[in-house]
Order: sequence, then C-alpha cells, then structure tokens
Amino acid sequence: MAKAKIELRNVNFTYQPTTPLAYQALRNINLKIADGAFTVLVGQTGSGKSTLVNLIDALTLPTSGQVIVNGRLINNQTSKREQELFRQKIGFVFQFPERQLFAQTVREDLAFGPQNLGWSQEKINKSIRKALETVQLSPTILKQSPFSLSGGQKRRVAIAGVLAMNPEVLILDEP
Ligand SMILES: Nc1ncnc2c1ncn2[C@@H]1O[C@H](COP(=O)(O)OP(=O)(O)O)[C@@H](O)[C@H]1O
Ligand SMILES: [Mg+2]
Repeated sequence: MAKAKIELRNVNFTYQPTTPLAYQALRNINLKIADGAFTVLVGQTGSGKSTLVNLIDALTLPTSGQVIVNGRLINNQTSKREQELFRQKIGFVFQFPERQLFAQTVREDLAFGPQNLGWSQEKINKSIRKALETVQLSPTILKQSPFSLSGGQKRRVAIAGVLAMNPEVLILDEP
C-alpha cells in the first residue's frame, strides 16, 4: 500500500471551546490519504468539510488528536512558528480565490508567494511559467492587471498563485 501522505488520528474539533457557544464540528475523525491520491470530500453544508481541510492546512489546530502531513505532526501543542512553516508546504485554494488577487499585474500577483519564500528570481520565473502552463493560461497574461480579466481567468490566476509555491499538497475548498 502507498504510504499515507495525510493522516488524521482521532481528531476532534470544537469551535469556541469552554464557552456556552462551544460547538463540536468534528468528532473522532480517522483518515488516511495516500501519496499522489486525488481525493474528493463530499458532505452536506455544515457537515464539517471546511473545518477538516483547515486542519490539514494547519490554519487551525485540532482540539485533540493528531494531523500528520508528509511526516510532520500537528496537534494542539503546535507553536505558531511551526504552524507557519507547516503551512508553507500546503497550497490552499479558498472558495472564491479570485477575491485574493491584489497586485497591479498578474506577474506581481504570482510572484508574491514565492518571494515570501525567499526564492531567487530565476526560480520564481520558472515556477510562474510552470504554474501558468498547468492552469492553461498564456504567458502574455503576465503583463495584464488581474482586475481586467474574466471571472474564469481570475480564478485560474489565483490557483496558479498557489501552484507557483510548489506545494506538496493542494487543497481546494469547493473548487
Ligand atoms: N467559526 C465558527 N464558529 C462556530 N461554528 C462554526 C464556525 N465555522 C463553522 N462552524 C460550524 O461548524 C460546522 C461545520 O462547518 P463547515 O466546516 O464550514 O462545514 P462545510 O464546509 O461542510 O459546509 C457548521 O455547523 C458550522 O455552523
Ligand atoms: Mg465549506
């Protein structure tokens, strides 16, 4: 069997714990996702899909239990710094990713994440080219303003921005 890339062990998640508004969104989740797998999570609105993928992205920490991605472990003791490092390896595309476009040009938008990772200009250019190819956009789009694009193009640029950081895991919440 392929080695698990993502594993959740006895994961519980409660919103606003220790308050009268406490709400347990996830109860005892055990899950393994193999390396290279393409997995779809299906459930009713409010069933906890976003809560679960936020844990895999280490956007939030589990109330109890463990999340393991590529051998790195996250639990409720994980520090902010570890959480940040963990998140650099994970590409997370939010529900309306185009709302996060902000730069003057598509090139600047795509370069933002890789620059924050401290990459060389050459490495950044290469990863941008590859990401554009993956989402099937022409490099001529790099000079344009993200706000001049169609809805579909904006969404592709936003996804390319995540891919440009070369994540080990790609998560799309309601793509
Ligand atoms: N910030 C929050 N505070 C309290 N409850 C929340 C919060 N976010 C989500 N919930 C609740 O947790 C449950 C799961 O939500 P969510 O993970 O967003 O579901 P899904 O993505 O499957 O629609 C829902 O009942 C929702 O109301
Ligand atoms: Mg959701």
